[in-house]
Amino acid sequence: MMKTEHLKITDIHIDEEKIKKAAALLAKGELVAFPTETVYGLGADAANEVAVSGIFAAKGRPQDNPLIVHVASVEHCRELVQEIPDYAEKLMDRFSPGPITYVLPHRGGLADNVTAGLATVGIRIPDHPLALALIRESGCPIAAPSANTSGKPSPTTAFHVAEDLDGKIACIVDGGATGIGVESTVIDCTGKLPVVLRPGGITQEMIEEAIGEKLASTNGIPESDKPKAPGMKYRHYAPVLPLILVQGDASKIKEFVRKVESEGKRVAVLASKSTADHLDLPHVKVLGTEPNEIAANLYAALRHYTEKDADLLICEAFSRSGIGEAIMNRLAKAAEKHMIL
Ligand code: TXA
Ligand code: MG
Repeated sequence: MMKTEHLKITDIHIDEEKIKKAAALLAKGELVAFPTETVYGLGADAANEVAVSGIFAAKGRPQDNPLIVHVASVEHCRELVQEIPDYAEKLMDRFSPGPITYVLPHRGGLADNVTAGLATVGIRIPDHPLALALIRESGCPIAAPSANTSGKPSPTTAFHVAEDLDGKIACIVDGGATGIGVESTVIDCTGKLPVVLRPGGITQEMIEEAIGEKLASTNGIPESDKPKAPGMKYRHYAPVLPLILVQGDASKIKEFVRKVESEGKRVAVLASKSTADHLDLPHVKVLGTEPNEIAANLYAALRHYTEKDADLLICEAFSRSGIGEAIMNRLAKAAEKHMIL
C-alpha cells in the first residue's frame, strides 16, 4: 500500500501550488485521480507505458479495453491523430471542450497499452478548469479511464475515488462533485459518418444537429456482435446489491415492491421525485426531478445502499430521450434484469 496524497482544490489560482504538485507527479509517471465535467478520471502520462500499466493494475481493468486520452486543446489533439474528417471538425468546433470523445486513427507516439494495440485512439478535451490546468501544467497527454475499480459505478466525488483506490495511487485531486455525472459520448470518427459507440452527455440529436445529417440509430445492435468500443462487453457500474430495473408507473412499482417484500426480501429503491413521492418505504433514494439531475446523482445512488440496508435494489426505468439514453445505457449494464410491469 502506498500513501495516497489528497489535494483539495477550490480555486485554480489560489491553489496553484497544489496543481503544480499533482502535475509533477503525472509527469514523473505516477497515477493521479482528478475531476472532469463528467466523472473523476484516473490519469497517467499517455506516452509512458509503465505508468499506463499502473492504471490497469489499480483498477483491475481488462487489458483489451483502451483508455481515453485527455488533451487541453484541438491543436494538441491534432498532434496525436491523423487527418480529422470534416464532420469531426464540426463536432470539435461545437462541443469541445466538452463531454465527447472522438475515436480517430492515431499517429503513434502514445504508449501501446493506451490504445490496447488498436490503430485508433479515443481522445477528448474535458470541460473542467482543474483537468485542463493539470494537462497543461504536466505537459503530457493524459490517459484516463473513470477512477473506479473496474466493474463498479464511476466516481462523481473524490470520496468515491478514495473508496476504490486509496492506497493504490499517488494522489487524488479533490475538486468537488462532477457536474454531468455520466461519462462522455464516445463517437467513432473513422467512417463517412460518426457512429455513437457510447451514449453520453452530448446526445445523438445534438450531434445530428451540429453536422446537419441524420444518423442511424445505434439501438438494436445484437449483443453477439463484436462491440466496437471494447469496454462495452463487460459488466459495468454494478452496485453492491443485485439491481432490477423496472419499467412502469409508480403504482405498479409500489405493487412490485410489496410483492418482493412479502417474499421476505428487504428492498431499496432509486426513483425520480414524482415516483418516490408515491412509495411509502424506508429506503428510497430520490435521483431528481429532471433527467440532468438524475444523471448527476445516478452513480452516487448506485453506490449508496449495501447489504446492511437491503437485499435487493430496484431502480425505475426512465425515458430514453436526450441524456436519458445515457442513463438507461448505464442502468441496463448495471442491472441483472429489466422488467416491464
Ligand atoms: O467521461 C469520460 O469519458 C471519462 C472521463 C474520465 O473522461 N472517461 C471514461 O473512460 O469513461 P473509460 O475508460 O471508463 O471509458 C472509455 C470507453 C470504453 O468503453 C472504451 O472501450 C472506449 O471508450 N474506447 C477508448 N478508446 C477506444 C478506441 N480506440 N476505439 C473504440 N473505443 C474506445
Ligand atoms: Mg469506466
